[in-house]
Amino acid sequence: AQISAEKGHSDGATRRDFLDLVAWSTVAVGAGALAWPLVDSMNPAADVLAMSTAEVDISQVPVGSGVTVKWRGKPVFLRHRTEAEIEEARAVDVSDLRDPQTDDARVVKPEWLVIVGICTHLGCVPLGNKPSEQRGEFGGYFCPCHGSHYDTSGRIRRGPAPTNLAVPEYEFTSDTVVRIG
Ligand code: FES
Repeated sequence: AQISAEKGHSDGATRRDFLDLVAWSTVAVGAGALAWPLVDSMNPAADVLAMSTAEVDISQVPVGSGVTVKWRGKPVFLRHRTEAEIEEARAVDVSDLRDPQTDDARVVKPEWLVIVGICTHLGCVPLGNKPSEQRGEFGGYFCPCHGSHYDTSGRIRRGPAPTNLAVPEYEFTSDTVVRIG
């Protein structure tokens, strides 16, 4: 009888603990729900942080073309590179470069170039460049403001720009989605 009384006591305690836990959880969730709008309105940076990443669906971008998305108010170019573009980017003698960087160091996957589309000279937006239009091949990027020319890896080759087009932080969250930021 003593054992079962203890057991009964023990069950009761467990149930009370459980009920207490439920009650506290409810309070905690309630407080959390109330706190969110307050935290949000007290913290204007929360909006900015929410916009600091961009998810880009790249499933419909054919090889040899690209898309431009806006990220933190800046254009970001995502280019689906051809084999020829990748080879050209890799064949460059890095010691010739003003801002020496291997192509490998600038890409996560060789097929995709992801760069901030802002000229590092005075901030114009470069254009996709086809200097070898005769060959019909993509030749990198050309800034119309003062003539800086970037290669198929977005590295500065000619003109006044001091550094390569910037590579933002990004990752592939799947085969078809890139998250920037
Ligand atoms: Fe691009 Fe001057 S802003 S070359």
